[in-house]
Amino acid sequence: MGNGANFRQRVLVCQNRTCRKQGARKVLAAFQAQLVPGVEIESSSCLGQCGMGPMVLVLPEEVWYCGVRADEVLAIAQRHLREGKPVTAMLYKKFHH
Ligand code: FES
Repeated sequence: MGNGANFRQRVLVCQNRTCRKQGARKVLAAFQAQLVPGVEIESSSCLGQCGMGPMVLVLPEEVWYCGVRADEVLAIAQRHLREGKPVTAMLYKKFHH
């Protein structure tokens, strides 16, 4: 994991076993393809929410997305990472009511 010194935001994409079974590799690749300036994409170990994946955590604001599909990554990159507006419909309800 990087130290984030040159980044305003970090996106952690869980690559542990349960999330990988749910398609996390494709989700990570989709984020890496977006190249949003100032945003670091990181492969993460288990985020402690196994079974709800693929899990994605955006820092420093601690916004969680669950069950992310590769074809949803563009919306997160565009609306959240570029425009600063988290995609409400896709948030992980356990942490965002
Ligand atoms: S394997 Fe991804 S949250 Fe545990």
